[in-house]
Amino acid sequence: MNAAALRNMYISFFESKGHKKINSAPLVPENDPTVLFTTAGMHPLVPYLNGAKHPLGNKIVGCQKCIRTGDIEEVGDAVHLTFFEMLGNWSFGDYFKRDAIEYSFEFLTSEKWLNIPLEQLAVTVFAGDDDAQFDQEAFDLWRKLGINENRIAKCAKKDNWWGPAGQTGPCGPDTEMFFWSGDAPVPEKFDTEDNLWVEIWNDVFMQYNKNEAGEYLTLEQNNVDTGMGLERVSALLQGKSSCYETELFIPLFAALDQVRGFTEAPTARQASERIIVDHLRAAVFIMADGIAPGNIDQAYVLRRLIRRAIREGRKVGIEQNFITVIAQCVIDNYSEYYPEIERQAQFIITELNTEEAQFAVTLEKGTREFEKLIAKVPAHIERKVISGKKAFFLYETYGFPLELTEEMATEHGFIVDRKGFDKAFKKHQELSRKGAEQKFKGGLADDSVATARLHTATHLLHTALKKQLGDHVAQRGSNITAERLRFDFSNDEKVPRETLNKIENMINQVIDQKLPIECEEMSVDEAKAAGAIGLFGDRYDEKVKVYSIGNFSKEICGGPHADNTGELGRFKIKKEESSSRGVRRIKAILIEE
Ligand code: ALA
Repeated sequence: MNAAALRNMYISFFESKGHKKINSAPLVPENDPTVLFTTAGMHPLVPYLNGAKHPLGNKIVGCQKCIRTGDIEEVGDAVHLTFFEMLGNWSFGDYFKRDAIEYSFEFLTSEKWLNIPLEQLAVTVFAGDDDAQFDQEAFDLWRKLGINENRIAKCAKKDNWWGPAGQTGPCGPDTEMFFWSGDAPVPEKFDTEDNLWVEIWNDVFMQYNKNEAGEYLTLEQNNVDTGMGLERVSALLQGKSSCYETELFIPLFAALDQVRGFTEAPTARQASERIIVDHLRAAVFIMADGIAPGNIDQAYVLRRLIRRAIREGRKVGIEQNFITVIAQCVIDNYSEYYPEIERQAQFIITELNTEEAQFAVTLEKGTREFEKLIAKVPAHIERKVISGKKAFFLYETYGFPLELTEEMATEHGFIVDRKGFDKAFKKHQELSRKGAEQKFKGGLADDSVATARLHTATHLLHTALKKQLGDHVAQRGSNITAERLRFDFSNDEKVPRETLNKIENMINQVIDQKLPIECEEMSVDEAKAAGAIGLFGDRYDEKVKVYSIGNFSKEICGGPHADNTGELGRFKIKKEESSSRGVRRIKAILIEE
């Protein structure tokens, strides 16, 4: 069954069970500054898992565009993809375990739907730990539906728990379904370590909310979140062991063959070819959501994908411009389901042409630099080495990956000092980490007294909002100048002036108490255990600063801050407005007394 048919069938099945179809949200999350891309179907749906009302009701089905860049270096093998589509069905406080498992079972096994023999299926359920108990209910439900006990594995949190998508939020135990992709006979006992059992679907029972202290609190509503990787499952149903062997990629490889002047497709594909088609497919989808290549955030990831595809092209001998030929193929393949691709086609092709032309120049300059470098070494020297520093220079200035420098070096009888490269690379990382820390301070390059005071006021506001509106309030953005603070936070409704007055009063009372502001350094775990709030980001392995304002507020932050709340003057909220869906924005000032 091809991917388009699977997508349609999945959606029809859940529509027949009273679900309403939603379109995919953009790849760039609208409300979440902590991640660059949407990584799962549930990501855009977090507000509804937290209790907000979805305009289409409590039962939703859809197919979400996702990007995962964590494994980007792995792309090239037969399984990894940067971009993929995730099918999912969701219940926001409507049905729970029984229906979710019964729907999954029916869709997978019924003759009317996927018709997978029971023999080829196995499942896992959550084994239980200190945070939540063994999922007996899921176990019993699968047994009742006819899954043999030796085809049900009980796994720990690392395998059978999903979420939260960020540091905090909805999460819970899950049950995963596996498909036997090997030959007959299927082994009787399900061995989760056997790669021939491939995970095809995940039903997550989101009944907890992980808070900033790392505790799992029971959510007010029981939700279901599921995810089925479209490319993978469609490949398995076609009896193919790799997504790259399906109709989603075959035309892209064919276009690549044409570019290379091949009249026949090669019998096996190389890693370079897979990287090219994977990266350009992802690039087209990112650009369809309005991003152009650049040097920061999503734009930088996009640039990396495009440049890597071009370099891999060079590796397989393509010297001419070629990426728009592959991109056009992606546009043709996907425009029917994703009209935004068609709408953005012109933009995509134009930007790709510009990027390819620019990079060709860089690549050429880098190659010239490389040639100059090796020309300096006299021919009679036996052991010719390119120093780590020079290899790193090529990497940083011309985007030459070490492997490319090594390949070129070998061609000229040189070796590269890998250790020296690693050292230079580490030093650079250390410097960028320091730079990132600077950035983490929230644009506080300006550490004037006025700004420091507004920073302290922001902490007071954050806590006061949580106290007045509830624990769902989380920071979505913060911007401070010497004149004012601006604070974005998650909250669905407008905050009435009456409540804003209460918040102002609360903060001014803390100011009047003349509380000292204290700073302590600790690990992220210690900060969480101490109940600190704030953006933890991905700084797990580092010490963080936690600022306390009396017993009123404890927040992780880079500072700087006032020494005492008594310095702050009067806190005044100037404006409360919508920032984006589910996010409100407050602008406030401090008035000197
Ligand atoms: N959110 C779950 C996943 O991505 C369904 O696996």
